[in-house]
Amino acid sequence: MNNQEDKFKKVISHAKEYGYIFQSSEIYDGLSAVYDYAQNGVELKNNIRNYWWKAMVQMHENIVGLDTAIFMHPTTWKASGHVDAFNDPLIDNKDSKKRYRADVLIEDYAEKLNLKAKKEIAKAAKRFGDAFNEEEFIKTNPRVVKYLAKRDEVLKRMARSLENEDLADVKKLIEELEIACPVSGSRNWTDVKQFNLMFGTKLGASADSAMDLYLRPETAQGIFVNFSNVQKTGRMKIPFGIAQTGKAFRNEIVARQFIFRMREFEQMEMQFFVRPGEELKWYEYWKEKRLNWHLSLGLGKENYRFHDHEKMAHYANAASDIEFNFPFGFKELEGIHSRTDFDLKAHEEHSGKKLQYFDHEVNKSYVPYVIETSIGLDRMFLAVFSTALQNEVLEDGSERIVLKLPVILAPTKAAILPLVKKDGLPEIARKIIEDLKYDFNVIYDEKDAIGRRYRRQDAVGTPFCITVDHETKNDETVTIRYRDSMEQKRVKIKELKAIISKEVSMGDWLHKMELHTNYKT
Ligand code: GAP
Repeated sequence: MNNQEDKFKKVISHAKEYGYIFQSSEIYDGLSAVYDYAQNGVELKNNIRNYWWKAMVQMHENIVGLDTAIFMHPTTWKASGHVDAFNDPLIDNKDSKKRYRADVLIEDYAEKLNLKAKKEIAKAAKRFGDAFNEEEFIKTNPRVVKYLAKRDEVLKRMARSLENEDLADVKKLIEELEIACPVSGSRNWTDVKQFNLMFGTKLGASADSAMDLYLRPETAQGIFVNFSNVQKTGRMKIPFGIAQTGKAFRNEIVARQFIFRMREFEQMEMQFFVRPGEELKWYEYWKEKRLNWHLSLGLGKENYRFHDHEKMAHYANAASDIEFNFPFGFKELEGIHSRTDFDLKAHEEHSGKKLQYFDHEVNKSYVPYVIETSIGLDRMFLAVFSTALQNEVLEDGSERIVLKLPVILAPTKAAILPLVKKDGLPEIARKIIEDLKYDFNVIYDEKDAIGRRYRRQDAVGTPFCITVDHETKNDETVTIRYRDSMEQKRVKIKELKAIISKEVSMGDWLHKMELHTNYKT
């Protein structure tokens, strides 16, 4: 097992052991790519959602929220293009009867070439030491040049074939590359077929009158179909945004990366409506704003990068992903898309209703252009959780497992611990809880020696431990221990609320974020 796989396994098992994430329906052996958020997971997830909501909706005078239904009129998905084009190219192996995404098989092949090149580079770096010039080596080493050229050629051909819907060529490419089924080892493949990712269901009691519906594959369309309702009732002036968070459903075929790719997941999306021609200015604005939101959480600048799309979806004129360094490498965390007027126009055409805006400044009506920011809440959870999970070697050589969650996101802010279960200490601890529970999520723990309790709270990510001891009875002071530094301080009980408030205020964190935003429109 390599380091990445090992780290990822630890993340998954820690998430279960400490009550963050369970496999759905585990007692029935689980449901693949569907997960339940457990007692701590639901708190962390709520906190991430709140942090997004506060930054995107409550801090913007011109952005409002919405919570639309998961079921939508089926024509919505015809208009949005999902019925015709929301497909994955699939291929079956005739011997193992296993189904794969054809593009993923080819991408995995390309990644193997990439890894071969990386191996050569690492070997050379070791051999040449400080004198190693990596850039030069990549350009001139015949083996590396060959691997990388082949990788690019394969990916380009696949992209071309998929764009032209030439599925026969996708199959031909798989055969030419001699890609074998990982299960049967054979190259006995079916043709490649398009498979729609939407889940279908029915509305209505009897089979004849039932209406075919889809579970929404994105939350965005609930915003588009309500554009005029919100604009008119909220008297919104362009530029303005509509945001919502909620469940989305996709029948993902390759779904083996824990909560990274799920069949039922949650999105946090915002559609920002602008004057046509001004969309690229706003696209740059939202790229910077969104990156700053991520950086404000302190997960490390080096863990983020933009991936600007060269090939755009048919409705977009600019698109970029914010990629995050997950335990399995850099992958898409959030998408920022300039969607032109595609969606509103398509809904106008299919519904026969006008979805336009009268702009008093230019004295004309138009269909606004849209910048979308779209982030998966579950992926954000994985980004936060996997980065926070750390194995530290302490000065005395012992190890501690600590979940260094950003304090504003931590499920429980403080654990109140009586040193012993007698002498009136539990009663004082309970009184502190009574005092703090209106402002923070706090818990009581009296089981085991104090050192073990500290370690348990470190592993579950609680930023503060407050210990009540015999001295407390004399002078009304307690020990506050900080999770990250393990520093301990003696403070007055009556100061606790102010100390914790100062550290866990989302407002303060967001204020700092605003100070770092340079982009002005
Ligand atoms: N409205 C645009 C849209 O849905 P997308 O790139 O398909 O765009 C946006 O999805 C975000 O939703 C992604 O960046 C990702 O974070 C999240 N997402 C997409 N599919 C997902 C899945 N199967 N499981 C978990 N998150 C997913």
